[in-house]
Amino acid sequence: STRILTGITTSGTPHLGNYVGAIRPAVAASRSPDVQNFYFLADLHALIKVQDPTKVQRSTLEIAASWLACGLQPDQDRVWFYRQSDVVETTELTWFLTCVAGKGILNRAHAYKAAVDRNRAEGEDDDNAITAGLFMYPVLMAADILIFNAHKVPVGRDQIQHIEMARDFAQRFNHLYGEPVGKTFFTLPEAAIEEHVATLPGLDGRKMSKSYDNTIPLFAPREQLKKLIFSIVTDSRAPGEAKDTEGSALFQLYQAFASAEETAAMRAAFADGIGWGDAKQTLFDRIDQEVAPLRERYNELMAKPAVIEEQLRDNAVALRERHATPLLRTLREAVGLRDLS
Ligand code: TYM
Repeated sequence: STRILTGITTSGTPHLGNYVGAIRPAVAASRSPDVQNFYFLADLHALIKVQDPTKVQRSTLEIAASWLACGLQPDQDRVWFYRQSDVVETTELTWFLTCVAGKGILNRAHAYKAAVDRNRAEGEDDDNAITAGLFMYPVLMAADILIFNAHKVPVGRDQIQHIEMARDFAQRFNHLYGEPVGKTFFTLPEAAIEEHVATLPGLDGRKMSKSYDNTIPLFAPREQLKKLIFSIVTDSRAPGEAKDTEGSALFQLYQAFASAEETAAMRAAFADGIGWGDAKQTLFDRIDQEVAPLRERYNELMAKPAVIEEQLRDNAVALRERHATPLLRTLREAVGLRDLS
């Protein structure tokens, strides 16, 4: 059966971008009987950006509770839900992949390049402000995907490059170690993108992102959600003047939550000159309608961290035994290390 896998970095509070780009499609996929699902909390990736243990812990709990509140039902068979760092084999696989990954490919990673540019713009000519962790980010991500031989990785557009890199590392490994012995160790993963919500904009119209500080938390209390939605940037056109849907953050957000008919109606309202206040109210109502029941479950789950913890731990134990440990035994042998079992 098809294996679907995705993760969210535990570096902050989950936002609407994470929801429409990752959680919502993944939970929907988990309902299909003929797929296997691997969903995880990328806490090792979080260490690249957040060096505050309390914050990492808090974010891990919030993101775990979000997945469960959104309807994920881990069953230790078809639906797995775990913490990246609990599957310790991932870090070992990261090293095997590091030893086949081309440095030139990593040099071209968007996040790393942006950090180098920022550093140079600030007049730093050595790169010591950039950690090797940031540079290695795509290799760790490839290990996440390859350790469970995922076929499909549902992600937002920002992650496509990383999936392509994972394919490249997998191919190199297969070529180097597999071809001589007639084996294929890794499946080549593919990104699965939901076209109409590929990049959800944030409050300022740029991509919604923790790093731009423009996010709308998925489970913000109702009043705060409303306040944030009313602070979305718009142009200065008055009620009665026709509005552009093109490039409108408000319209794109609406589209990510509304049905095709509702979206068409909003498009018509834009042309008819709906006032921004009315458009924002409609957007708020639409989002709150979808999120309110989930928010209630989220708040209940956040009050029971021990239950979440137990679930994560049990999943990781079973998942290692079933998948990760046997794979690593094979890989160790393939690269010429002693089988430690
Ligand atoms: P992260 O934590 O930045 O984002 C988690 C998921 O949310 C999606 N996303 C968005 N989608 C639409 N619009 C947005 N504005 C938006 N912002 C975020 C991201 O595309 C992603 O799907 N490196 C990953 C985590 C990770 C991972 C993996 C993912 C680690 N290992 C293996 C897949 C497979 C990340 O930092 O995502």
